[in-house]
Amino acid sequence: MRKTISVSINHLSKKYDIQVSDSLDKIINETTVFEKHSKIFILTDSNVADLYLESVVKMIRKNTDKEEIYSYIFEAGEKNKNLQTVKEIYEDMVKVGIDRSSIIVNLGGGVVTDMGGYAASTFLRGVPFINISTTLEGMVDASVGGKTGVNLDHNKNYIGTFTQPKAVFIDVSMLKTLPHRVLVQGYAEVLKHGIVADEQYFDDASRIPFIEMSIDQQIEIIASSIKIKSQVVEQDELESSYRKILNFGHTIGHVVESLSLETDDSLYHGEAVSIGMIAEAKICELSGMIDSKTFNKIEQSIINSGLPSRFKLTISSEDIYDLLISDKKNSNGVIKWTLLTGIGEAVVNVMIDKKFVMTAIEYIL
Ligand SMILES: NC(=O)c1ccc[n+]([C@@H]2O[C@H](COP(=O)([O-])OP(=O)(O)OC[C@H]3O[C@@H](n4cnc5c(N)ncnc54)[C@H](O)[C@@H]3O)[C@@H](O)[C@H]2O)c1
Ligand SMILES: [Zn+2]
Repeated sequence: MRKTISVSINHLSKKYDIQVSDSLDKIINETTVFEKHSKIFILTDSNVADLYLESVVKMIRKNTDKEEIYSYIFEAGEKNKNLQTVKEIYEDMVKVGIDRSSIIVNLGGGVVTDMGGYAASTFLRGVPFINISTTLEGMVDASVGGKTGVNLDHNKNYIGTFTQPKAVFIDVSMLKTLPHRVLVQGYAEVLKHGIVADEQYFDDASRIPFIEMSIDQQIEIIASSIKIKSQVVEQDELESSYRKILNFGHTIGHVVESLSLETDDSLYHGEAVSIGMIAEAKICELSGMIDSKTFNKIEQSIINSGLPSRFKLTISSEDIYDLLISDKKNSNGVIKWTLLTGIGEAVVNVMIDKKFVMTAIEYIL
């Protein structure tokens, strides 16, 4: 099965295709994206390089007679998603003579596509790039939307650009080599897309765990998730308002994630977002925006997908609340929530009485 999602950011007249299938070889074989470019520069991390770099180079060589295919491998891990690595990438690009007629191929998860997109969009004021996403989180979230970036010390994604790729290629069978926990955590964003924008999709995604799905079902789930995100991004590329529906679960999720990163038992982003989604759905229930049945449906789906529902750290709800208030995104101590009036119906910039927030935080502790 092959699904193509066309994304167009209308007001900027940018358009690109995201291809989802179970054969990268076929996708690359048929693409014309390399035609107009002189040099190809593949950026990847050490894990993905070991597994896929050689075969991807072969696939590209079959598609194009271009001699000049270069690759740059950095050590895998979020800790290397920073300006130092970007500097090393720039230096390598200079060394091999990358210019605006070249194309960058980001091969990897969200760390590679975020950092590679940033390096490409800033080198010589912008070299075109494509993303070959190899993680579930990368496929359903980082690959679409045009946010590129790196971390500045502990400030996540503080440096970046909004730059759309020329194309995104997704081969679902590459997920087979992903560690189980990394795969499952990526499913949080799949569920989130259903929760904020499409109840039917949420029901489909909740029916059986992702790893029990056939490859065609997986392609369907990933393609529909991308479709939902791209439709949101098309309406509000720069996140002035509507795109904030994608932040559901992330207000409390971010606090939970950063607290956990200071312990030996750190949570993956998607795991923290799952706990955040449960807390924020609880706020909706407590404030009468959704009924208990809807809350239970959301919580059960998260649990059935193998995602965590409670935060194990010993911390008071008051301390978590203080961290929420001090988050730089919440200017003047006012938290503007993304909440739900139903599954598939999100509302942004909602202000909520502290008592509901406190009870919801206690619920996840
Ligand atoms: N731009 C956006 O809109 C956006 C959205 C969501 C997340 N992100 C970013 O994405 C990053 C997280 O993404 P991630 O979870 O993909 O992290 P990641 O890129 O670090 O990948 C996770 C791990 O899996 C390995 N890996 C990747 N593909 C593999 C494969 N097919 N088989 C085996 N191992 C593989 C990687 O080497 C890494 O060790 C964060 O930095 C986050 O900020 C960006
Ligand atoms: Zn997220």
